[in-house]
Amino acid sequence: MTAPMRTLTAPITALVIVSVLVGGCTGSQDIPARAQGDVRETIRLSQAERETFRRGMRQYLASVQGIVEALAHSNRAQISESAQKAGMDMLRGVSVSVAVHLPPEFLMLSMDTHQKFDALSRSAEAGASKAETTAHLGAILANCTACHAKYRLSPN
Ligand code: HEC
Repeated sequence: MTAPMRTLTAPITALVIVSVLVGGCTGSQDIPARAQGDVRETIRLSQAERETFRRGMRQYLASVQGIVEALAHSNRAQISESAQKAGMDMLRGVSVSVAVHLPPEFLMLSMDTHQKFDALSRSAEAGASKAETTAHLGAILANCTACHAKYRLSPN
């Protein structure tokens, strides 16, 4: 992990803790979506932030694909590399001012997912078995599912 990454991660972690302590949650409700039976909480971001966020999601999916393909060939170097692309380094460039407007649980799930990818990357590098890597991946996918069940982006 590089020095700039540490300087970014620390304030975001502190922010998550503070947000949890004060119980702050700015996720607002989207009434038309709810009327149609969509009970997910709405995350409001600017258009540029939404684009960045969606790009990050597509990287998550690409990393999962890379990991699964590499698993089939027992290619630990490729597993590690694919996982690392979805690790904490992805948060580089995310400003604290964006993070402060997000629900704490959303932030925690996001951080935990990046950290789990980093952990999978390290364990593959250290020689993890297929079963261990699959278990790591299962825990990551549980985060994807949990967050998607709970949150949506505002359409505009
Ligand atoms: C912290 C919450 C969170 C986590 C964790 C999360 N997602 Fe998402 N993801 C979202 C939200 C919110 C959307 C937008 C859904 C909407 O607006 O209907 C989204 C959208 C997506 C999209 C669509 C991107 C696009 O271009 O529109 C993909 C693909 C995706 N996620 C994949 C994943 C994968 C794979 C994982 C796990 C490795 C994951 N996500 C983990 C919150 C999350």
